[in-house]
Amino acid sequence: MDRTPGVHANKHCEEGYGMGNLKVTMTDTAGKVHEITDVAEGQSLMEIGRAHGVAGIFGDCGGGCACATCHVYIGEGWGEKVGQPDDIEFAMLDMVSDVARENSRLGCQVRMSPELDGISVTVAPTAA
Ligand code: FES
Repeated sequence: MDRTPGVHANKHCEEGYGMGNLKVTMTDTAGKVHEITDVAEGQSLMEIGRAHGVAGIFGDCGGGCACATCHVYIGEGWGEKVGQPDDIEFAMLDMVSDVARENSRLGCQVRMSPELDGISVTVAPTAA
């Protein structure tokens, strides 16, 4: 990946927004596609979605893996790089099993890295 020195995120700005150059494509619950290109390493998909007003991403628990209001479907071809949920996340996804799929993850538990540059995700509908 082409990276320009001085532009990429470092440990001091992981919490900030608009300071990185990683890309994420998020399709929200209204079907709108958000091409987000200023993502810093370390930001979670939930934080990114909230910061960009992506419909359907709420993050009610603040990223504590306790609400599932950041539920996303990982785009085809990205599952292996993203990895599998741990036991706690899996249990939370089980609470929304009516809308959970094999490629479900909680957005707050997936943090951006150069390996995930260009990832696409779709926001899951709210559980019944
Ligand atoms: S923000 Fe609550 S589980 Fe992700």
